[in-house]
Amino acid sequence: MSSGIEVRLARNSGFCFGVKRAINMAMKSAPVSDNIVTLGPIIHNPQMVEKLKSHGIDYVDSADQIPSGATVIIRSHGVTRQTMEELRSRDLRIIDATCPYVSKTFHHAEELKKQGFAVMILGDAKHPEVIALKSYVNGDAEIVASASEFPERTYRRLGIVSQTTQSVEKFQELVCRAIPNCDEIHLINTICNATNIRQDSTLQLAKKSDLMIVIGGRNSSNTKMLARISDRWTETHHIETAQEIDPAWFAKKKNIGITAGASTPDWIIIDVYNVIKENIGARDLKAMNVEDIPGYKEE
Ligand code: F3S
Repeated sequence: MSSGIEVRLARNSGFCFGVKRAINMAMKSAPVSDNIVTLGPIIHNPQMVEKLKSHGIDYVDSADQIPSGATVIIRSHGVTRQTMEELRSRDLRIIDATCPYVSKTFHHAEELKKQGFAVMILGDAKHPEVIALKSYVNGDAEIVASASEFPERTYRRLGIVSQTTQSVEKFQELVCRAIPNCDEIHLINTICNATNIRQDSTLQLAKKSDLMIVIGGRNSSNTKMLARISDRWTETHHIETAQEIDPAWFAKKKNIGITAGASTPDWIIIDVYNVIKENIGARDLKAMNVEDIPGYKEE
């Protein structure tokens, strides 16, 4: 019987399409403009935000802090319609890096309202994407964080959309809860595929691991969701960087899984992988080589 320790990386983890696109758009703008800001941190990852800062791209918290003549990058979560209108009316160059899937959700919500549906959003009311989404129905939407928040009332026509990073499971629960209370439901599955795929990969890996390390910003909804999914199956630790790893976690563990949120850069994943490797190296580590690192070989 082998006493080796397996370390596996979830098949799909790390930067999603929308985040990669936003970072690329920001990086491309860096050499051609010297007065660039993002409206809010570009992604929910402090290390990436620092990296952009080193390229001269800082962030501001609100539109009124953007100096005249600046280039402003709209991050993948998007902004409210009012904010976009305000920015367009000013002397600013706008780089709109709103993820196309997020824009599509805005469009769907707008259409539902136009068609006369009461709009319900599954999501975190404080999340910038949800705040922006609500603005596209002029604030006229109910936001629920889970099925248990479904209001005690009936609807003639209810339209339901979701924040792109919610879990399919929660969306299903909400719809099941809504059915007895509605004459008609128009449901649009706005959960992003990247989210689905990452959640599924995490679930599959968590099922065969006795320890899961979930990497990503503490305020990243999609990373927190991965940690919740994993935690239902096995011991799980949510970390932002390799420095938070506690070697005691690895005692008696045989199968260690790693997954990362859609806003976690590859270099942090590799760093975590290497620190795990160092920690378990003395304990009959199974052969691991360069092919095990993200982007080379995936589990
Ligand atoms: Fe876009 Fe999906 Fe990422 S909505 S920002 S590709 S998680």
